[in-house]
Amino acid sequence: MRFEVGDIQSLPESKGVRFDVGDHRVAVFRIGEDVYAIGDRCSHAEASLSEGEVFDCLVECPRHGSEFDLRTGQALSLPATKPVPVYPVSIEDGSVYLTLEEA
Ligand code: FES
Repeated sequence: MRFEVGDIQSLPESKGVRFDVGDHRVAVFRIGEDVYAIGDRCSHAEASLSEGEVFDCLVECPRHGSEFDLRTGQALSLPATKPVPVYPVSIEDGSVYLTLEEA
């Protein structure tokens, strides 16, 4: 399933935005001209990664502080140990699209 997020300029710089698309809960981040999309639900407990602070290409979980790589979804610090999903992003004529598997 392809989902149109909207114009790249409508995404705030280095801040997450949450999108609920079907059964997917996605956190989308724009860093400069690049856009990353990962699972919004922290792999440790219930927290919304789109509400975390962004440093370089990492987001810090707002609840217990685990850091996740926006490119790979890997958990880089405890207490989270499992990755979160990563969603392919494409940018066409300034519009951002996500590719999501049908649940
Ligand atoms: S809920 Fe994210 S690190 Fe605990």
